[in-house]
Amino acid sequence: MKQVRTKIAGMGYYVPENVVTNDDLAKVMDTNDEWIQERTGIKERRYVTRMKETAATMGVEASKKAMEKAGVTAEDIDFVIFATLSPDYFFPGCGVLVQRELGLDKVGALDIRNQCSGFIYGLSVADQFIKTGMYKNILLIGGEAHSSGLDFSTRGRNVTVIFGDGAGAVVLQPTEEDGKGVLTTHLHSDGRYAEKLAFINPGSHGGAHTGNTEYYDEDVYGELMMTQKIMDAGDRYPNMEGPFVFKNAVRRFPEVINEALSATGHSVEDIDMLIPHQANLRISQFVQSIMGLPDDKVFNNIQKYGNTTAASIPIALCEAYDAGKVKDGDLVCLAAFGSGFTWASALIRW
Ligand code: UT7
Repeated sequence: MKQVRTKIAGMGYYVPENVVTNDDLAKVMDTNDEWIQERTGIKERRYVTRMKETAATMGVEASKKAMEKAGVTAEDIDFVIFATLSPDYFFPGCGVLVQRELGLDKVGALDIRNQCSGFIYGLSVADQFIKTGMYKNILLIGGEAHSSGLDFSTRGRNVTVIFGDGAGAVVLQPTEEDGKGVLTTHLHSDGRYAEKLAFINPGSHGGAHTGNTEYYDEDVYGELMMTQKIMDAGDRYPNMEGPFVFKNAVRRFPEVINEALSATGHSVEDIDMLIPHQANLRISQFVQSIMGLPDDKVFNNIQKYGNTTAASIPIALCEAYDAGKVKDGDLVCLAAFGSGFTWASALIRW
């Protein structure tokens, strides 16, 4: 009996028209183009048009393109997976909003909360459903509207300059073509560092994990998510210990790529294209040099879009494919590291 694997049958991405350059950011906070390019490689990023575009609406646009490329319609899709850390609503998740907007027929919709690794986590989940025969057409989306919740004062500059908005989507289907499809996926986490890169408020924690209870009045129920003290302190944006995250990223990326290679009996020379999560161009370059990969085997587009978290891999994969850099028979490696910490990899025979 032939082995069933998961293939990417179609891809699409959507980025907002609104381009925000480093100089634009320097008008509102103490930063500059030189610092941003030198430390991150980023030249510009896209921001949603407020009150019009969201993680879900961009996800819908990316999905339409992916579905067209795959030659499927709304009736064909039997499951939706949406990875994001900047959802339209605290709940329900973006998956149901996509289900509604695309007119999908009451199919299941799962939201994934694994930040930069979200797309690969979603791919792994979808892969299991497809291999067991449960679903035949899964729509997997990564979408982020970061600009809706960033600190545009100088205090937030280390985080804010990095992130951008956008969405990418793929349609996943079973294939029996010899040796092709998703060969392996590897998922990891280390919650010891959950607060090292986190968007803590709003949340129900009330300081439980950090011991920092100064924002809360003991006897007030129902007021934990966002207290006046949190608002007054302006402590309602993502936080990151950048250098600590960087050090862990450059260790975990190679580790999880090697794990995927050894699980499938491949060596690094077999990789035709590495699509790393676009966290920072310096991180990608570090990983490339540790792995000993030549320039033409690593794809980066962070220069144009910044870090789009769950969307970065599908957007990059799409652009690499459109540029003819991912071809039939290629061994494509996806890898990610980010908040959680979580990290993950996948190997796909195209
Ligand atoms: O995708 C999720 C995973 N995320 C990551 O992988 C991100 C990992 N971390 C990084 O990419 C880097 O740590 C950053 C790009 C965030 C920061 O670069 P860095 O080289 O680690 O800088 P730093 O945080 O150590 O800060 C160095 C200096 C500080 O000033 P002092 O204390 O040396 O005077 C910062 O205040 O740079 C300052 N700084 C800035 N200056 C101008 C921080 N952000 C900015 C800024 N513009 N935007």
